[in-house]
Amino acid sequence: MSDIVIENLHYAYPPLMPGGEPVVALRGVDLQVEQGEFLALMGRIGAGKTTLCLSLNGLVPHATGGIIRGNVTVLGRNTKTQTVAELSAQVGLVFQNPEEQLFHLRVEDEVAFGPENLGLPREEIARRVTWALRAVGLEEFRQRSPLTLSGGEKQRLAIAAVLAMRPRILVLDEPTASLDPQGAAEVFATLRELRQTMPLTIVMATQDSKWVAEQADRLAVLDQGRIALLGRPDELLSQVERLHALGVGVPQVAEAAAQLNARLGTAFRFTRLDEAESVLADDLGHISAT
Ligand SMILES: Nc1ncnc2c1ncn2[C@@H]1O[C@H](COP(=O)(O)OP(=O)(O)OP(=O)(O)O)[C@@H](O)[C@H]1O
Ligand SMILES: [Mg+2]
Repeated sequence: MSDIVIENLHYAYPPLMPGGEPVVALRGVDLQVEQGEFLALMGRIGAGKTTLCLSLNGLVPHATGGIIRGNVTVLGRNTKTQTVAELSAQVGLVFQNPEEQLFHLRVEDEVAFGPENLGLPREEIARRVTWALRAVGLEEFRQRSPLTLSGGEKQRLAIAAVLAMRPRILVLDEPTASLDPQGAAEVFATLRELRQTMPLTIVMATQDSKWVAEQADRLAVLDQGRIALLGRPDELLSQVERLHALGVGVPQVAEAAAQLNARLGTAFRFTRLDEAESVLADDLGHISAT
């Protein structure tokens, strides 16, 4: 059974002003995410990525109000019948700006906060804090103040804080948007390592097409509250013009492939650097051999 099943999901936020119109954000989304899958969500500003992320742990609509139609089923249970607190134990949410998610004076207190709220015994909390910090590579930072961490380290701490709840599903809403390339690389490396050690299902809104090409199993492109494209990243990210029309950037090597195709009449479709290197090496070898 799929970890996440979204059926014909429509959602509108309450009007921004009294007497105004509801703001339609999702217009009939159908989507399933399998256990252990890494699904990337892309799409232009306002396409509905954040709204879809928030619907997975019930913040939409429980905290936002508004009008919802259709169903979101997470681990077999409809989000309509569960509280945000119940859902948060299963679905960990990480936001764009790590500063807005970190409140504590010490790294270890940040990670202990969730398990403490679950009312877990002290030893279990300590076990989880150690485990979660180790999982994101921050065990040496236990006693530090989160304020002293780099952007990438802060976001890894935010991931550890969520992991300490032992969720089955991790939802990340543009977690690297406020980070430099080094910080973004750290976050993606952390996710890669996590997936090797636990059966985590990941849904991630992101603009980092290079990393989507390297790590995501599937890509959904949202446009005006609908899923415009859904498929393997290598299949979708090589469709450069189509993605640009949807407001989605593609990896640089996919741009390069498109330019070579336009100039040379070739049909390159690579989306990752390793792929580009091996395809081009083969091709150039062929040319020099003839
Ligand atoms: N709290 C809110 N109240 C009213 N309308 C909202 C609210 N949050 C988002 N919207 C609207 O809902 C639509 C979808 O927004 P959403 O934030 O989900 O898009 P997004 O794809 O995450 O965009 P971004 O790339 O800017 O993060 C937009 O039209 C947006 O203006
Ligand atoms: Mg957003």
